[in-house]
Amino acid sequence: MADLSVNFAGIKAPNPFWLASAPPTNSGYQIIKAFEAGWGGAVWKTLGLPTINVSSRYGAVNYGNTRMAGFNNIELISDRPLVDNLREMEEVKKHFPDHAVIASLMVDTREQWIQIIKDVENAGADGIELNFGCPHGMCERGMGSAVGQDPVVLKTIVEWVMDAAKIPVITKLSPNISHITDPGLAAAQGGTDAISLVNTFKSIVGIDLDSYAPYPVVDGKGSNGGYCGPAVKPIALNMVKELAQHKDINHLPISGIGGIETWRDAVEFILLGATSLQVCTAAMHYGFGIVREMEAGLTKFMDERGYNTIYDFAGKALPNVTEWKNLNLKYNVKAEINEDKCVGCDLCYIACDDGAHQAIALPLDGSRIPSIIDENCVGCNLCSLVCPVEDCITMVRTDDGKENVTWQQLTDKDEIPSTFNDKRAGGNGHYVPEPSKALRSK
Ligand SMILES: Cc1cc2nc3c(=O)[nH]c(=O)nc-3n(C[C@H](O)[C@H](O)[C@H](O)COP(=O)(O)O)c2cc1C
Ligand code: SF4
Ligand code: SF4
Repeated sequence: MADLSVNFAGIKAPNPFWLASAPPTNSGYQIIKAFEAGWGGAVWKTLGLPTINVSSRYGAVNYGNTRMAGFNNIELISDRPLVDNLREMEEVKKHFPDHAVIASLMVDTREQWIQIIKDVENAGADGIELNFGCPHGMCERGMGSAVGQDPVVLKTIVEWVMDAAKIPVITKLSPNISHITDPGLAAAQGGTDAISLVNTFKSIVGIDLDSYAPYPVVDGKGSNGGYCGPAVKPIALNMVKELAQHKDINHLPISGIGGIETWRDAVEFILLGATSLQVCTAAMHYGFGIVREMEAGLTKFMDERGYNTIYDFAGKALPNVTEWKNLNLKYNVKAEINEDKCVGCDLCYIACDDGAHQAIALPLDGSRIPSIIDENCVGCNLCSLVCPVEDCITMVRTDDGKENVTWQQLTDKDEIPSTFNDKRAGGNGHYVPEPSKALRSK
């Protein structure tokens, strides 16, 4: 049976599922409850200088029937007394010596960093996570994402911390930056033992149409918050990939964070190079019990594929993530409709006719089952994405697989289109109706 245990930059845990630094890790009570439920580690709610929180502090994007597809907060770091957190940390470690307890920290001056590192080491923390991510409140005070967005400052603070710390240090990055490799490189150069990402994205989830203030409304006003949850997973995955493919960063272990809710999300992060996973929104939404499905699913996936540890497949997708210029221009798919499954909703027809390539025809016999016009279908996928019936529209390969021509190869041979009307341009040429055919009345 698969062994889920991890050794992440020297931090050992029975499995890679850790709670991210956030409300679920606000207290020893919660962390013990989470470990009992099956979580392998927890990054304590960020400790630092005293703060005062506002009420309320959360907002969400509900999409269709999905509550909290995106989640937003304007909460600061821990507002509990440092001494209480340290005492509880010690208590948790006493009961769970083999689980990972990581102290997330955010302070200002070098002296404060040195002091708080000593404090959490004395409390028995297995590692430290540097919170350079909060995009609200703390950044106005020169901390959080203000550091994450300034590679020079970030590197300096990492150096201070590495000088002082005796336990492994994870640098948690802010995604609020054009190139995640800039702070990633700065953290590596500063000597960090590992990287975690993402923290939250600067965001406004909506405007209250009574007060004209952003959610969550605090006495008639609001502020930008930090966005997370399922909606951010694709951006987080890409950022993990960017770091895992960078030759001067990829020696560092990466803790993947952002919208992880199921075992499948976890596997995707691992395939892109993460070797521990952190979860916040899903634990806030559904409670600690979700880890059971994650553990069972990951174990089943590994057993089925013959992986003994997560290191056997960590990063396995990375060789397949390439630049666009290396994709095969001769690879060709076309949509195929399974008539037995089709419910005749016409969503594919509308999407293709208005938003794609006019490659779906409605039947003339009143049967409601549309058909694909092969010569017009460019295989864009849109119809299969909008079709509400699983596997009703599939994309079927139509080239013979013998040719592989990339933009890079064409560029190397000086064969790329070079004028606006170059005959070599155009990809899959297809019939486009005359504009006047769109007129309802002639
Ligand atoms: C309410 C709330 C409070 C948070 N507080 C912290 C914090 O104190 N320190 C920190 O590093 N990240 C904090 N985060 C960010 C999370 O640790 C995590 O990076 C982010 O939510 C993305 O993960 P998710 O999509 O699983 O929620 C907070 C997130 C939320 C929603
Ligand atoms: S794959 Fe694209 S072009 Fe082809 S039928 Fe579907 S929507 Fe139209
Ligand atoms: S979207 Fe799917 S179910 Fe609806 S008409 Fe098209 S193929 Fe049929």
